[in-house]
Amino acid sequence: MSADNNLDLVIRHADVVTASDRFRCDIGVRGGKIVALGHGLASARQEVDASGLLALPGGVDGHCHLDQPMPDGLRMADDFFTGTRAAACGGTTTVIPFAAQEKGHSLKAAVADYHRRADGRAVIDYAFHLIVADPTPAVLHDELPALIRQGYSSFKVYMTYDDLKLSDRQMLEVLDVARQHGALVMVHAENADCISWLTDRLVGEGRIAPRFHGLARPAVVEREATHRAISFAELVDVPILIVHVSGKEAIEQIRWAQGRGLKILAETCPQYLYLTAEDMGLPGEDGSEGGYEGAKCVCSPPPRDPENQAAVWRALTNGVFSVFSSDHAPFRFDDPHGKKPGGKEQPFHHIPNGVPGIETRLPLLFDGVRRGLLSLHQFVELTSYRPARLYGLYPRKGTIAIGADADIVLWDPMRKVRIANGNLHHAVDYTPYEGMEVTGWPMTTFSRGEMIVRNGEYLEPSAGRGKFLEAGLPEL
Ligand code: URP
Ligand code: ZN
Ligand code: ZN
Repeated sequence: MSADNNLDLVIRHADVVTASDRFRCDIGVRGGKIVALGHGLASARQEVDASGLLALPGGVDGHCHLDQPMPDGLRMADDFFTGTRAAACGGTTTVIPFAAQEKGHSLKAAVADYHRRADGRAVIDYAFHLIVADPTPAVLHDELPALIRQGYSSFKVYMTYDDLKLSDRQMLEVLDVARQHGALVMVHAENADCISWLTDRLVGEGRIAPRFHGLARPAVVEREATHRAISFAELVDVPILIVHVSGKEAIEQIRWAQGRGLKILAETCPQYLYLTAEDMGLPGEDGSEGGYEGAKCVCSPPPRDPENQAAVWRALTNGVFSVFSSDHAPFRFDDPHGKKPGGKEQPFHHIPNGVPGIETRLPLLFDGVRRGLLSLHQFVELTSYRPARLYGLYPRKGTIAIGADADIVLWDPMRKVRIANGNLHHAVDYTPYEGMEVTGWPMTTFSRGEMIVRNGEYLEPSAGRGKFLEAGLPEL
């Protein structure tokens, strides 16, 4: 027995896997931190036997949307309570949603409002990305530099969506601020004018069912914007991260840029591994357009086809992607504030974009480990270690090491689970992955040493125990 007195928690016989190492040991926790890794640690107030399970660093979901203010009477189903509860049950212990600036408003005000939404609600720790929708001189020269210093070191810009998109000139200006202050810009890369031209044409022809969302946003639209964003990054000489990459055409652009030595990082999400355009609806045999159920899978960029899914899996394995996030965008299906805006079925361009997935993110990727598509270390790297580093939270998050927060997930690699919305913990009335079977599931989740999920049972920790994390500068 060692002299590790006064441990709060010891996790015994852990098969620890980090992004780089695998070792068996006991994990000793005091004051929410990992303070000992060794054999035969002294007994603690709480003892947990992890035999037969993997001990992984808690997931860091670097892209999710919780209680984000929405236009036009739309409302997100998940707030910081239900969203973080679902995340914890899915093995995630840190989330990074977005404080979104509205055009005509200040960014600082968006951050203050978003703190009010999070305060007292989160059950796991959280940081904020910013969304820069109106880069006025005050935002560029005062607000952004101050916010970066205060712990908001990553921000997203959009090349599409009327209420969010930036012009090319504005993109360059935001990238330049990031370069000067060491922040990281995340880019939603789709060409707005191509989308609006295609949309007008489809709607004019009466082709309005959800599946036409995919036809309004073909791969070329994503490829062009990806290439343009890369060109801006090269011009300004700053790294960027292309988010929610959907398939091979954008991947080709990113690989090309990485091959030229440019620091172009990329993210993908479960919907591009498991959904296809067919999930947004098929034409009826009678020539009809296809049903409204497809609205459940409407997201941007849209899901593509099996060949693109295979390309995304390959790019996860070969290092093109740095992070794997959920892009959880929680809109209820049967809801006038969700996927049925205005109370009835709507043309595709009025359907709010995005799919839920904060709880299923890790199991869906882990199934790729079982199938031999990626290693356990790659799984941890993509889902925890790299997002923690890129978003300025490492080494507090993203690893199992002395001094790190005791955010640990005990994972059963053999457990077979058929995904069913009834068993999930978000406030959305569907999952796009209903009925899919995966092997590997998070059993027990610790957040700063507190067990908040035990053998799949949510233990109802106090809402508000989750802490805001001031992010440091990105480590690329
Ligand atoms: O369709 C998506 N991805 N919706 C969520 C918002 C965003 O652009 O990430
Ligand atoms: Zn986006
Ligand atoms: Zn998103």
